[in-house]
Amino acid sequence: MGITITSAPFGTTAAGEAVTCWTMKNAAGTEVGILDYGCTVQRILVPTREGRRIDVALGYDDLRGYEAGSCYFGAFVGRYANRIKGAAFELNGRRYALEKNDGENHLHGVYTAQVFDGAAERDALVFRRVSPDGEEGYPGTLTFEVRYRLTEDNALEIEYVGRTDADTVVNFTNHTYFNLNGAGDILGHKMTICADRFTEGDAETLPTGRILEVAGTPMDFRAGRVIGADIAADFEQLKLAGGYDHNFILNGEAGTLRMMAAAESGESGLRMEAFTTQPAMQLYTGNFVHMDAAPFGKGGVRYPRYAGFCLESQHYPCSPNFPAFPTTVLRPGEEYREKTVYRFISK
Ligand code: BGC
Repeated sequence: MGITITSAPFGTTAAGEAVTCWTMKNAAGTEVGILDYGCTVQRILVPTREGRRIDVALGYDDLRGYEAGSCYFGAFVGRYANRIKGAAFELNGRRYALEKNDGENHLHGVYTAQVFDGAAERDALVFRRVSPDGEEGYPGTLTFEVRYRLTEDNALEIEYVGRTDADTVVNFTNHTYFNLNGAGDILGHKMTICADRFTEGDAETLPTGRILEVAGTPMDFRAGRVIGADIAADFEQLKLAGGYDHNFILNGEAGTLRMMAAAESGESGLRMEAFTTQPAMQLYTGNFVHMDAAPFGKGGVRYPRYAGFCLESQHYPCSPNFPAFPTTVLRPGEEYREKTVYRFISK
């Protein structure tokens, strides 16, 4: 049968723009819905062993939720994912000021709220955008595409390709919150992360610049660890962030597709394996999710704290201000290209 790709209207933004939801389905019954609004992953339906389908991605039923929400459910994030201290950085001796949208800092950027040009091209869904020079304060016109593919073996592949006409910084990620039970919290999921080290965070979840070893700490997911086992431990890094909200430096060579993490739930029997070319991954366990006011989650559910986990493949946080971190500078003539794969397995 192959992969089928269809599209349907998904409402109109407050500014009057029509939004489309694209749906990819494979022969196994896995279904992924992507909005051209922010290239958002709206749902991922995965068949279980018993033939049920579980939506493993948190989000909203309608566009109003995505417009009003502040959790970045399913979001494609750019131009620069994660925090930039003081909402400013220097490049080539010039200072660039960004919007302060997270206290005094800058977090995640504005791409989530824009309607992209989407098209089905063979077996892929491709979203294109030109981010003008100066958008959010970043230099350089960034021309890029976000490509989504669903494979017959239940992998959602996400690829980013971009070019600039002036020196700039780029750090894209995907902010999907996964819950392999489709409900409740993720504290009982077992998580594996292929990282020996992580970047130490401060009270604002900004990097201190220090790189710490995971060995012997609740940050050691190398052999698998239940997320909730030590989330409330008397361990400063976890107490500062109210749970996991840390950037793990992935083992192996950046630029090559290698495993970054795996998660599984005994309750649903679903397992997810994740791979990336990116140098690092932010594990975020939804520490700030608590829906005490609308918009509520899909089906009107009030997602609790720890309702989902994000495996955000990306660079180290705040790299433009930490020259010792791998560079995120993109120059004219260079190509930005990164790929991340989330593969689902029912056991
Ligand atoms: C960050 C969290 C932040 C969240 C926003 C994550 O990528 O690491 O600190 O609260 O995004 O929903």
